[in-house]
Amino acid sequence: MKISIIGAGNVGSLTAMRLAQEGVGEIVLIDIAKGLAQGKCLDLDDGRSILKCDYCIEGSSDLDKIKDSDIVVITAGLARKPGMSREELLNKNAQIIKEISLNIKRLCPQAVVIVVTNPLDLMTYLVLKTTGFKPSKVFGMGVSLDGARFANLIAKELNIPVADIEATVIASHGEGMLPLPRFTTVKGVRLNEFLDDKKIEFLVERTFKRGLEILTLLGSGSAYFAPSAAAAALVKAVAKNEKRVIGICVYLNGEYGLNDVCIGVPCCLGKDGIEKIIELDLNKEEKDKLNKSADTIRELIRQLPLFCQPVSA
Ligand code: NAI
Ligand code: 2OP
Repeated sequence: MKISIIGAGNVGSLTAMRLAQEGVGEIVLIDIAKGLAQGKCLDLDDGRSILKCDYCIEGSSDLDKIKDSDIVVITAGLARKPGMSREELLNKNAQIIKEISLNIKRLCPQAVVIVVTNPLDLMTYLVLKTTGFKPSKVFGMGVSLDGARFANLIAKELNIPVADIEATVIASHGEGMLPLPRFTTVKGVRLNEFLDDKKIEFLVERTFKRGLEILTLLGSGSAYFAPSAAAAALVKAVAKNEKRVIGICVYLNGEYGLNDVCIGVPCCLGKDGIEKIIELDLNKEEKDKLNKSADTIRELIRQLPLFCQPVSA
């Protein structure tokens, strides 16, 4: 199993480390910055003796090294800097992602592609449209991270093991994020049996702001420990054909009454990518919020046509 990670920054290199150490496959790490991926991979390679683990990892600045990958993870791109508008970030990352997508299409047409670069929902859509891959083969990591954050905050509040919590977050990995307390359980029991509405609302709000909270504390760059864990979990679900249900950003073609948009919903993941899109039985308020989130994403998609090609689904 060959797994390539494009972008050897914080998220990319940690994802590479996690996958290598867990023996998920042969890892290739790529970065446009000369020497960066090679240097990080030599460093990671030196850990093999200490960890007593014969993993296989190689770094390069040559994108052609991704040839024939089974899975490609895209973490390349810029994070928003002070003074940079979201639109500027969108345009800059769209250029980067478009070029990378064309190369993925050329070098590994069979690959499952996992997008991490922000703005996540738009970059996932752009990769799908540019590669022309089947929608089941292209998806984004976002709401599983948001769900992990929600679960962690609930576990801390209740002082119980985090593994007992199944938290569900859907919609955009951004302003339109939608944590779903009705679909969040503690050992199968609904969250509202444990916490009152006011406390749940407080935790929802903290989940919504978690990325910004971390970014503000770090001062430069955004979160990477939990994001790399979330990205590695998606790779593993595919590489090991786990058939796990995980929230991912996926192209909807009628599901949830939505069309031609990439947005976060739970899906079953296996060796071919997305095996099933799960349709939650949302109530009116939840549906309205999901629709609003999709509208906002579509609004931004309209800024993308310059970079897009028709999709052959
Ligand atoms: P980073 O700045 O540490 O790393 C990005 C890397 O991409 C840099 O090393 C840069 O040289 C490289 N790069 C830029 N253009 C490239 C190209 N054309 N080919 C190959 N490499 C290229 O950033 P970090 O923290 O690793 O985040 C990466 C992206 O992931 C950002 O867009 C960030 O917003 C996003 N992100 C998304 C999350 C999610 O939940 N979806 C969570 C965390 C980060
Ligand atoms: C996060 O949620 C920046 O998307 C990234 O931390």
